[in-house]
Amino acid sequence: MKISYLSWYKDLLGQIYRDNTKYNLLSSGISEPWDLLNEDLPESRDPKFKTRMATANEWGHPLLIEQIASRYGVNPKNITLTCGASNGIILCALALSSRYMKVAVETPVYEPLWRVPQELGMEVSFFGRHITSGEIDLDQLAARITKDTQLAFISNLHNPTGSFISESQIISILEVIKGCNKDCYLVIDEIYKDFVPDDFLPAATLDDSIITISSLTKVYGLGFLRCGWIVASENLTNRLRHAQPLINGVGSRQLEVLTSFVFDSFEKYRKASRDKVSVNREYVKRQLAPLFKSDVVKGWVPDYGCVAFLRLSNWADSLPLVDYLAKEFSIFVVPGWFFREPSFFRIGFGIDLDHLKSSMQQLVVGLNDFDAQNSVKNQ
Ligand SMILES: Cc1ncc(COP(=O)(O)O)c(C=O)c1O
Repeated sequence: MKISYLSWYKDLLGQIYRDNTKYNLLSSGISEPWDLLNEDLPESRDPKFKTRMATANEWGHPLLIEQIASRYGVNPKNITLTCGASNGIILCALALSSRYMKVAVETPVYEPLWRVPQELGMEVSFFGRHITSGEIDLDQLAARITKDTQLAFISNLHNPTGSFISESQIISILEVIKGCNKDCYLVIDEIYKDFVPDDFLPAATLDDSIITISSLTKVYGLGFLRCGWIVASENLTNRLRHAQPLINGVGSRQLEVLTSFVFDSFEKYRKASRDKVSVNREYVKRQLAPLFKSDVVKGWVPDYGCVAFLRLSNWADSLPLVDYLAKEFSIFVVPGWFFREPSFFRIGFGIDLDHLKSSMQQLVVGLNDFDAQNSVKNQ
C-alpha cells in the first residue's frame, strides 16, 4: 500500500460523510460534543454556521476551497489549503525538496523563507535583491542555481522593502532558473500581493514550475483565521496535499467555516484594507519627508503595502538605534538584522490611524534625538 495513512484517512473521511455511512469504527478519538458546544460556542447556534459545519473537510472545507479558487481565478484542483502562509512555506520545503539538496533564496529576506529549508536539512544560498528597485540580481541568481538546486524562494511584494515585481520580471527570473536547471521550481510568497490594486492572477498560473503561497494575514488583518493556501499545477498540488496532513492533520473545520463567511463578502474587506493603507501611507510620507530632506533618514515609502525599510545615514547597524528607541521612547521597530540587512530597520503602518499618528510622532522625535546625540558625540 503506497498511500500514507493520513492521506488514505482524509479521502475516506469525505466519502463516508457524503455516503452517510452508518458503520464507522475509524476514529481514534471521541465524537464532537455538539450538545456541550451548543451551550458554550455562540456561533454553533447560528443556522448558517451549523449548515456549513455539516461537511467533512478532508482536504480543507470544500466551500472555502471553491471560494478561494473562484476569487483567484484558478481551479480548486490547484489549491492546497494551509494553516497560514507559514505552514505553506514549510509545506513547499517539505514536499518539494530533499535533505542535502539545495535551495536558493532572495536577500534581504523574510527569515522563514531560508530558515525553514535550512532546518529541514537543505543547503541554502542567497541571491541579492536590490533594495531600492526591488529587482533581483539575475547574474547572482544564475550563479546560485546548480544542478542540485530544487527550489528558489522570493516574495512579491518583497518583505522587507515592499517592492513589487511584474509578471514580465517573473518570467525573466524563471527563464534564468530554467536555463541553469530545468527541474528547479520557483516559489513566490504572495502574502502581500493583494495590496497591489490591479487584479493579477497568482503567478503560479504563468507556468507549471511556479508555486505561489498566500494567506489572509497581511492584507486583510485576518491572521487569527489561519487561512492560507498554495496555488500550483495539479501534479504539484497532489504532492503538496499528500504532505499536508503530516504538519497540519485535518485542519480546523470551524476556522475554515468562519473564513468562508469572510469570502462571502470579500470585496468589503479588500476595500477597507486599501482605504486604510492609502490614508496611512500619505500620513507616513508626510511625517518622514523632513527626515529624508535633512538626510537624517534614508529610504522611501513604497507604492504598495504597509511597510517601509529605512536606515540612518552613516550607521552600518541599526541595533543601537532600535534599542534606544525602545528604551527611551517605548517605540518598537524591527531591526534589519532579521532580514539579513543590518543597517536598516522596518516600520509597519497598517495599524489604526490614531495609533499610527501617535507612534509616528514619537518615532520622528526619537530619530531626531538619536541623530542629535550621536552628531554631538561624533564632533
Ligand atoms: C513574507 C511572509 N510570508 C509569510 C508570513 C506568515 O504569514 P501567516 O501569518 O499567514 O502564517 C509573513 C509574516 O510576516 C511574511 O511576511
